Amino acid sequence: MANNITFTMIKPDAVKNNHIGEILAMINKAGFRINALKYTKLSITDAERFYEVHKERPFFGELVEFMSSGPIVAAILEKNNAVDDFRKLIGATNPKDAAEGTIRKLYATSMGENAVHGSDSDENAIIEADFHFSKTERF
Ligand code: RTP
Ligand code: MG
Repeated sequence: MANNITFTMIKPDAVKNNHIGEILAMINKAGFRINALKYTKLSITDAERFYEVHKERPFFGELVEFMSSGPIVAAILEKNNAVDDFRKLIGATNPKDAAEGTIRKLYATSMGENAVHGSDSDENAIIEADFHFSKTERF
């Protein structure tokens, strides 16, 4: 059965470009309930740990530097089929390939600076939610 949570971050580019409000509004309008929400900043070590699965990829250094370059908004979102539905709402990794009306089509600037993160599986949604939030921070 599909898990009902996913984890997202509004990445440093979208925060810097003042898109927090529009992105949270799109998330709510698409039927996701906010279970947990935090305005925070990743250290280099946090970003390395969070994106550890990508450590052998050529873009890893760039990704870690970008994700720790400024504040982010982290959230746990609830909805039926949350992981897949949220990936549809955010669009393809490269904004050039993202469908019209998706968050990345509207707000991402490039493949690397692509406005939002969305978990890629139920298992990772739980790991990523636990990485950022304690039990008392969830409602
Ligand atoms: P995310 O994990 O952030 O939701 O993105 P994703 O699943 O769509 O893409 P993924 O393959 O997991 O890559 C993680 C993030 O790394 C950056 N990236 N840069 N320059 C590049 O070729 C490249 N490829 C990936 C992006 O910020 C991507 O979201
Ligand atoms: Mg990913």
